[in-house]
Amino acid sequence: MKIDFSSDSPLKHSTPALVIGCFEDGENELFTGCNSALDGCLQRLGATGEFTGKVNTTRLLHTLGKLPAERLLLVGLGKKGELDSGRLRQAAGSAVQALRGARVASFSLALQLLSDDDAALEAVCEGALLGSYSFDEYKTKDRDERFNFAGMTLLLPKGIKVKEARARVGRIEALCHGVSLARDLVSHPGNVATTGYLAAAARRVAKHHGLACRVLEKAELEKLGMNALVAVGKGSVEPPRLIVLEYHGSGAKGKPVALVGKGITFDSGGISIKPGAGMEEMKTDMSGAAAVLGTMEAAAALQLPINLVAVIPTAENMPDGKAYKPGDVLSSMSGLTIEITNTDAEGRLILCDALHFALTEFKPAAMIDLATLTGACVVALGHEASGMMGSDQRLLESLKKAGERCGERLWELPLWDEYGETMKSDIADLKNAGTTRDGGTITAGWFLKQFVGTTRWAHLDIAGTAWSEKSRPCSPKGATGVGVRLLIEYLKNK
Ligand code: BES
Ligand code: MN
Ligand code: ZN
Repeated sequence: MKIDFSSDSPLKHSTPALVIGCFEDGENELFTGCNSALDGCLQRLGATGEFTGKVNTTRLLHTLGKLPAERLLLVGLGKKGELDSGRLRQAAGSAVQALRGARVASFSLALQLLSDDDAALEAVCEGALLGSYSFDEYKTKDRDERFNFAGMTLLLPKGIKVKEARARVGRIEALCHGVSLARDLVSHPGNVATTGYLAAAARRVAKHHGLACRVLEKAELEKLGMNALVAVGKGSVEPPRLIVLEYHGSGAKGKPVALVGKGITFDSGGISIKPGAGMEEMKTDMSGAAAVLGTMEAAAALQLPINLVAVIPTAENMPDGKAYKPGDVLSSMSGLTIEITNTDAEGRLILCDALHFALTEFKPAAMIDLATLTGACVVALGHEASGMMGSDQRLLESLKKAGERCGERLWELPLWDEYGETMKSDIADLKNAGTTRDGGTITAGWFLKQFVGTTRWAHLDIAGTAWSEKSRPCSPKGATGVGVRLLIEYLKNK
């Protein structure tokens, strides 16, 4: 979407649609101005309860020549005292979704004029870009009727010059581009977004931003002893791969932060096959990988002054005569042996080799993995927070705070040793799945912990947050791109 700027006063601004905000419990100058121009219509809507300013509600009106703006879109901002950048971001997201519904392709946003918060412009722009996302690459019918936003104009608060605004908004565009990349990768079906497709996507990002990129093919994985990753891929005709990206921020010294993302391009469960109902959602089992790629792209575009590496193990988990099976014993890259008790606990297998690889190859200052790892996490936290576990409280606290700032919330679960009792094997060092499903998110995290040594490490279980069955203000139904804004927010403030 093209972004323009204007220093017009909103009441004198010509546009197909002007987006303004409305509080539940108080007026604001722009709202009052529009109300007068429209002969008291807005006040009337409030009095009748038709539009009360409740958070993220919207109402579209035609101005019939009473304002230079052809339409007015009212967006509810809730209580005046509760306005913050999160609210503004959501309001902008709700606004663009309402505009999409009404097929209004060009519009102007004035929400940022309501707040003296320095970051209001960024918040509104971010919400609008995130909320306007759609994925329709596979819709062939009614192509001409398909709706695309043409452009938005941001009305500038006094004291912000166009040049400054353009630079600030450019950074938000870079961030949202990373989120869109992650959403696109997750949205593509499993027959398209294969391990090779992820590798090609990584190479494209690397080429565009001058990152180093390596893709380790199956033979190299075998040579390195990454037998857990290789085993998971054995049932598929799509070979397993390990994708490695390196970003060196200019002037950045010191060890990199390593990002590790689960890249199961489709999770059928393998020989321990999943029930059929809902299995199609398992095309999203590479959301961790997508988040890491989106983050690398955004970090590079933003030229963050840090060193960053991405390690993405990718495979397809399928049943087949050649597939790995329950009872198999695998020797992981770290040397720890693993008895397979459930081939559907495949994520931890590809991750344990990737974590060990990241550790030995880069000696990172910190390691963060993201994975749609357990259904139990969806049971525990639903869709409002990702599960977080790890070995370093300071790292976890920083991540949690970053999550609160950007709206991608995290909730910590414990990793006490006792949780590992169910993971003991009679024949090998570890089992890949516990005897029962109890505490399933934690036992999966505990398994990963056996492979990170003393490195500062955080594990984020995004099983409940990577995909949404309902539309949210800044995330239309489907892939959320969760992780990208969280990681950038963390890395920016590190
Ligand atoms: N990819 C799934 C977890 C998942 C479930 C992600 C629902 C998103 C939505 C993972 O590989 C898996 O199958 N986990 C098993 C582990 C069990 C066999 C120990 C699970 O959660 O049932
Ligand atoms: Mn699985
Ligand atoms: Zn999985």
